[in-house]
Amino acid sequence: MKEQYYLDNAATTWPKPESVYTHMDQFFRNYGVNPGRAGHEMAVEAERMITETRRMLADFFNHQGDPHRVVFTQNATDSLNMALFGLIKPDDHVITTRLEHNSVTRPTNHMARDMNVGVTHIQRDTQGYVDPEDFRKAITPKTKVIVVNHASNVLGCVQDIAAIGKIAREAGVLFVLDTCQTAGVLDLDMQKNCIDVLTFTGHKGLFGPMGIGGMVVSENVDITPSRVGGTGVDSIAPYQPDVYPFRLEAGTVSVPGIAGLHAAQKWFADLGKQQDGVEDGASHKALCSAALKAVEAREVEHIEKLADAFRSMDGVKVYGPEKGQPRVSTLSINVHDLPADQVGTMLDADHYVCVRAGLHCAPWVHEDQGTVEQNGTVRFSPGYFADDEDIQQAVEGIKDIAEG
Ligand SMILES: Cc1ncc(COP(=O)(O)O)c(C=O)c1O
Repeated sequence: MKEQYYLDNAATTWPKPESVYTHMDQFFRNYGVNPGRAGHEMAVEAERMITETRRMLADFFNHQGDPHRVVFTQNATDSLNMALFGLIKPDDHVITTRLEHNSVTRPTNHMARDMNVGVTHIQRDTQGYVDPEDFRKAITPKTKVIVVNHASNVLGCVQDIAAIGKIAREAGVLFVLDTCQTAGVLDLDMQKNCIDVLTFTGHKGLFGPMGIGGMVVSENVDITPSRVGGTGVDSIAPYQPDVYPFRLEAGTVSVPGIAGLHAAQKWFADLGKQQDGVEDGASHKALCSAALKAVEAREVEHIEKLADAFRSMDGVKVYGPEKGQPRVSTLSINVHDLPADQVGTMLDADHYVCVRAGLHCAPWVHEDQGTVEQNGTVRFSPGYFADDEDIQQAVEGIKDIAEG
């Protein structure tokens, strides 16, 4: 019997690989100083670690450009705000979907209200998939950006970003991707998918701590800074430097957060080395790609087991992708007509199962599937470190509640 069964990795992954905790602690103790602001040895070491992390992440996402275009922020919300407000101007048009997290929906709503920006919201089918052709049809001469959530944080459906990216590139529209639910789970490739700005958060699949996120900006794009200030370089200049990362990194970055991401990148590479068929001397990207296959396979196995069990129970409604459709390890259900939060509380109190219940910051997903009245859905998201016991406990908990 465990103290708790953690199935809330879509909110944040827990636990992290052990090396993330130890490296953050050691790095912060020994080199927790302001990087780049001073020439002393400790500052140089902090800067070296940060630059190496930019390089690893550039490789991880197959950026193929200057690693200084890997920009650190506080989280994905910060990145999405900076990317959208830095690319979209008054009277522009933007295309997004009805599956977005509020970190996209609210900035674009504000733009529509305050900047006369036209916003088109692409509808989804009952499983949660959007049709890439709908983006092509929605493009107008004013369309500046397409911004899409790669995988829904409510339903787990994974969108066909290769097709959407191709349509955007052909039309000369910038493609901004929210990878919150996929970075560290699916093998992401900025080149293959024509991604112009890839936004990520550090504390989910990338196994970093909270308080660190970022974006990778392609060589063909320049984002106008919306936050300006100290950079530690070119201090005499009255305006923000144009060069990356300083263009978008104003103020002191989270050295402990970046140290966490650094250790996590090495953890992915080590996991890659343990996979069959990986050659000695393989690149960071190749190692991480092999690791991600293992992560994805394990997570999808967990979620399909849960989905199968829930589908077979009377009184349990399962939302989102049907079996075998492209998905990540996030699954929403409801039990009879019980409010979702009540089910979440019962799972926690009676079965020690940690899930998230509610609207998950994606209100339109619930409007479209009729779950607003039930206070949203109960969301299960087993991560890489979940095991069969976690899955079994969740199944028994829901069975118990459904049988009432
Ligand atoms: C799809 C999606 N986008 C954006 C976010 C925002 O991430 P953060 O809170 O780390 O900024 C989340 C977090 O739950 C998410 O799931």
